[in-house]
Amino acid sequence: AYVVTESCIKCKYTDCVDVCPVDCFREGPNFLVIDPDECIDCTLCVAECPVEAIYAEDDVPADQQHFIQINAELSQHRNWKPIVEKKDPLPDHDQWANVKGKTQYLDR
Ligand code: SF4
Ligand code: F3S
Repeated sequence: AYVVTESCIKCKYTDCVDVCPVDCFREGPNFLVIDPDECIDCTLCVAECPVEAIYAEDDVPADQQHFIQINAELSQHRNWKPIVEKKDPLPDHDQWANVKGKTQYLDR
């Protein structure tokens, strides 16, 4: 499956959801995840993300490995619902786009 990593946090551009053929993105307050049981590895979402947050599971960088579990876990969270249409990014997306170490800001 593909995995959303920390660049998405506090940005949530949502370009990715428009291209997913199986609608497997789930939305939280300031982050999206991919349901690993539904992703069909089509690769389409990768190029859509302006902050390059999405990786194939086998290519997730060493410092982002915890996001494999975070995607699996939060895709089952009862408050994280499917998102199938692009919407406006979060208001401060510009300030946060290039910030590293954002895992601490992930709202569940
Ligand atoms: Fe959806 Fe394809 Fe991205 Fe998986 S790789 S989340 S199926 S767009
Ligand atoms: Fe997040 Fe990139 Fe999608 S910022 S919402 S993974 S387009």
